[in-house]
Amino acid sequence: MKILVTGGAGYVGSHAVLALRARGADVVVLDNLRQGHAAAVPAGVRLIEGDIGDAALLDPLLGEGFDAVLHFAALSLVGESMQKPMLYLRANAAAGMVLIEACLRHQVGRFVLSSTANLFAGGDAPLDEAAAIDPGSPYGESKWMLERALTWAGRTRGLKSVALRYFNAAGADPDGRLGEDHDPETHLIPLAIDAALGRRPELAIFGTDYPTPDGTCIRDYVHVSDLAEAHVRALERLAAAPEGAALAYNLGTGHGHSVRAVLAAVGRVAGRAVPAQEAPRRAGDPAILVASAARFMAETGWAPRFGDLDTIVATAHAWRVAHPGGYGG
Ligand code: UFG
Repeated sequence: MKILVTGGAGYVGSHAVLALRARGADVVVLDNLRQGHAAAVPAGVRLIEGDIGDAALLDPLLGEGFDAVLHFAALSLVGESMQKPMLYLRANAAAGMVLIEACLRHQVGRFVLSSTANLFAGGDAPLDEAAAIDPGSPYGESKWMLERALTWAGRTRGLKSVALRYFNAAGADPDGRLGEDHDPETHLIPLAIDAALGRRPELAIFGTDYPTPDGTCIRDYVHVSDLAEAHVRALERLAAAPEGAALAYNLGTGHGHSVRAVLAAVGRVAGRAVPAQEAPRRAGDPAILVASAARFMAETGWAPRFGDLDTIVATAHAWRVAHPGGYGG
């Protein structure tokens, strides 16, 4: 199988490239390297530096003939999207539609979209695919627009697609080949690890008055290598799906952890407590976001291998200790 991975130099995309290569796929990465890292692309994988919205680049590339496109490339900060809504709608939704159109022009049969839990407003029970869509930000909206575009590309032109709605991607390759390196880093686990390692000042706990047992937000942290494996399963699922199928699945472990529980796990793994201070709520954070991945598990046989929070944190910690400067260091 020949597969184009957009955003394959980024966090989740690079882990998916490893999973695809392990299955013997011929992988090409398209990444503009604004957030991705060339060093995250394994030797032997062709890396093309460019944008998903560049039709002049996509036409000759997709003209080589690809069986599938895995589309990770995106701006992905919920908070930033509230400040720059049109940037997010343009960079993710409009440019993503240029990519989908190019896939239709070049008879790409299967398309897998990185979607998000930010489609949902949150809720006390694990969210399944029947949960109401209510994007919490222009970021979430941009992914929803792409899900809708894929539905229409299926209905009118037969493209088969899967949207995988990740909850909180976390952790690092258990073999230490890849990790999480964002600039700026905004995610809880890498920030907490750096605070424990003394590389950052204390961690701010955003909100301690949520309606949860300890007052802090609850999230479903799913290991990035489990997400990578989910993409392989999604491709297999599409192979058996009828022409034009546009599927969507929620992906998480089904277990939520509060911010305080994450800090405790980081403390256990790092062997020192995370210095932390209570801070006001961060705008736009739902109290609880936990996935029910029951449908995906039933239809593909997928199950998280690294679902335990301490395991997730331990893999992230090992990578950050080994790579103090990230990919650049
Ligand atoms: N948090 C803190 N302090 C910090 C950073 C985060 O208390 O310094 C809290 C947040 O308020 C939140 C939790 O830790 O309650 C997790 O925050 P992250 O920033 O790590 O992750 P988010 O849940 O905000 O967002 C992630 C992805 C988004 C995706 C979303 C879907 O980054 O791209 O999950 O739920 F849309």
